[in-house]
Amino acid sequence: MRKPVVTIDGPAGSGKSTTAKMVARKLGYTYLDTGAMYRAMTVKALKTGVDLDDPDALARQARETDMAIRPDPDGTRVILDGIDVTDEIRTPAVTQASSIIAAAEGVRKRMVELQRQVGAGGGIVAEGRDMGSVVFKDAEIKIYLDASLGCRALRRKKELEAAGTAVDLEKMEKDIESRDVYDSSREHSPLIIPEGSIIVDTTEMTIEEQVERVIQEVRKKTGE
Ligand code: DC
Repeated sequence: MRKPVVTIDGPAGSGKSTTAKMVARKLGYTYLDTGAMYRAMTVKALKTGVDLDDPDALARQARETDMAIRPDPDGTRVILDGIDVTDEIRTPAVTQASSIIAAAEGVRKRMVELQRQVGAGGGIVAEGRDMGSVVFKDAEIKIYLDASLGCRALRRKKELEAAGTAVDLEKMEKDIESRDVYDSSREHSPLIIPEGSIIVDTTEMTIEEQVERVIQEVRKKTGE
């Protein structure tokens, strides 16, 4: 039997990456971080200096870019024009600009093609903003993770501090909030709660509980 497609959508800091990664590992499915792809396009845009206010130029750049995705249990590796940029995509400058790149329709078109290729055989946990609403509309299991703004900012702060970057909590809240507004109000594939999705508020949940909750939903569907 074909293994299902599991989509996990939600705002920044809702626990998508950690949850999706652990669920994929436990089930033996492929983990796909689609935000990493938009971040990689952002790395290129910042390097080439393309006008971020010109969606057509961004789309052209996306079409001319050779992007390869290497699903990996520890995180999606992205190879851009032959160079592995996986480590470059997490800087604050890339994070901030990524919302603008992700709003360009032509960029999304190209990323969605690649995402569907990776997910074509099923057995995938795909996380992002439009996984259940657009890219894998027919996914067997759709999860929408959410958490309070304060909780999401605190999680991001801890993650960055663990990586050695000092963070001001108030600034982090503002940054996350402005990215949320941008991602949810854009014209093309905005962040929405996809139809048929199960909403999980992770504010008071541990990672283990989040993972268990999603796995329960998958098992309900697969009957395993
Ligand atoms: O999840 P993230 O922070 O790595 O995402 C980076 C940016 O890409 C963020 O602004 C949202 C956007 N994104 C998107 O528009 N669609 C996706 N499927 C995944 C991410």
